[in-house]
Amino acid sequence: MLNEREAESCYLGQFIPLQYHHNMLMDANRMDNFKAAIQRQVFEGAKVLELGGGTGVLSWFAAQSAAKVYCVELNPDMVAEARRLLAKNRYGERVEVIHADAFEYLPPEPVDVVICEMIHVGMLREKQVEVIENFKNAMLLNSVTRCRYLSRKRW
Ligand SMILES: C[S@@+](CC[C@H](N)C(=O)[O-])C[C@H]1O[C@@H](n2cnc3c(N)ncnc32)[C@H](O)[C@@H]1O
Repeated sequence: MLNEREAESCYLGQFIPLQYHHNMLMDANRMDNFKAAIQRQVFEGAKVLELGGGTGVLSWFAAQSAAKVYCVELNPDMVAEARRLLAKNRYGERVEVIHADAFEYLPPEPVDVVICEMIHVGMLREKQVEVIENFKNAMLLNSVTRCRYLSRKRW
């Protein structure tokens, strides 16, 4: 009989084992290139959203310039770890780690940059494409609803 968390992981089919995070962090080629890409895109004072934040390392790269980073992670162990690591590092306070499903979460304000690394192996297990697609549709719907609401208020 599975406990609630195991059942949740199975349902998602996408929680990667904890030791993979160690491997990802130790891969200098991976980390250097993500860091360079994030530094290139995230401007001073930007608002950033990361979907599937893991240890929070990419959010932390963004936080070197961003004013605010929303870091969404579903695995509760990773949420605790990200919060612990960010609290130890300069600019970590700019990152808010949110325990939520990236399929459902919408930030409370518009963001300038979205980071999502749920690639896994050939995107077969993690749901990068679906998560991004879902986010784009939800944001679009949200802004259309807001526009309608604002224009109604003006009348
Ligand atoms: C490949 S790891 C990358 C972690 C981190 N972004 C990095 O580059 O080190 C993807 C992360 O996405 C998380 N994840 C997978 N599906 C998710 C979902 N639906 N909502 C939120 N997080 C999710 C996993 O638990 C994992 O920590």
